[in-house]
Amino acid sequence: MNFPSLFSPLKVGPYQLKHRLALAPLTRMRAAKPSLAPRPLNTEYYAQRATPGGLLIAEASPVMATGFGAPGVPGIYTEAQTSGWREVVDAVHAKGGVIFLQLWHVGRVSHSSFQPGGVLPVAPSAVAIADLKTGTADGKAVPYETPRALETAEIPGIIDAYRQAAKNALKAGFDGVEIHGANGYLIEQFLQSHTNLRTDQYGGSIENRTRFLMEVTKAVIEVWGADRVGVRLSPYGIANGSGEPDPMPLYTHAIEQLNPLGLAYLHFIEPRSSGTGRAEVNRQNVPSAMVLFRPIWKGVLITAGGFTGETADAAIRDGLADMIAFGRIFISNPDLPRRLQHGFPLTPYNRATFYGGEEAGYTDYPEHDELEKA
Ligand SMILES: Cc1cc2nc3c(=O)[nH]c(=O)nc-3n(C[C@H](O)[C@H](O)[C@H](O)COP(=O)(O)O)c2cc1C
Repeated sequence: MNFPSLFSPLKVGPYQLKHRLALAPLTRMRAAKPSLAPRPLNTEYYAQRATPGGLLIAEASPVMATGFGAPGVPGIYTEAQTSGWREVVDAVHAKGGVIFLQLWHVGRVSHSSFQPGGVLPVAPSAVAIADLKTGTADGKAVPYETPRALETAEIPGIIDAYRQAAKNALKAGFDGVEIHGANGYLIEQFLQSHTNLRTDQYGGSIENRTRFLMEVTKAVIEVWGADRVGVRLSPYGIANGSGEPDPMPLYTHAIEQLNPLGLAYLHFIEPRSSGTGRAEVNRQNVPSAMVLFRPIWKGVLITAGGFTGETADAAIRDGLADMIAFGRIFISNPDLPRRLQHGFPLTPYNRATFYGGEEAGYTDYPEHDELEKA
């Protein structure tokens, strides 16, 4: 039997990919202001990272105005945002790439200064993120506010926003969408017991806490068909105040619910990396999402978190994952697939330019060949 490698082809939904190295979704906070529409600089960034038959997962994009918690994040709920994304998608397609968009609502990971009308952010329950600071719209570091718990009657409106955003992504020409159910944001706040104290059908039992994820996923599938929809989860994550005391029963149930839908893929964030990249965290001796959940998930499995070319290739050869998404080293190496394939040295990334700004640390990282010529 021939075991696949990082450079073996892979079918994801209807797409025949040429290699197994994806661009992880990466928030870069460089959309146009105040429209929060992607602009030519963003198009250039994605086009630089596109390869024939390679999968890019575009950054988390709020599905509605209450879904933001940071400045300069692109949305996917207005016409201007949809046409900005169309330019990105066309440029990636021109290079033969495949591009999915990550759909986002931050829930409590926000501040009232980002909310329409300056009201409190919404969440499953009125539980603030303790011990962490957030930024206001004018850049001050402040403690998180206690969010407002959503009324049961408001939840269908949020699911509708995901549905409409999925339609916008379709109109923008994307090849699929990924539902952001990871890193402590709204969907994960519903999933996990410490952030979901609800007593209605969306809280309490594991079945009830999984309901919001499933309703969002089914709404998006109605628009796209299941084979062009992915879901991202971070079962052992610690980002943005996450942390389920015993993730195994919760995530086993969620994955068993997702299994029969026939999704394009399930995408994990391995808990050994920080998840959001705000600090250099490489936790040792932590559980591995792919090791624990690979036997439960029946479809294509993508995972991310601190991989190198060697460890990514090993994970695929060992059958632990089908595809590896790269975040930080894909930021600083626009031609990452080629560099890993040929063993070329990697350019280190500059954390200071991850979030916000212009070209510096975004579109000015050279390709290997440019470095050779220099
Ligand atoms: C700057 C930055 C922004 C990120 N933004 C997102 C995001 O929008 N959505 C998401 O699911 N994960 C996000 N992540 C997590 C990455 O997708 C990825 O899982 C993480 O960086 C681990 O992969 P790596 O070790 O290859 O960087 C972000 C990470 C970084 C460093």
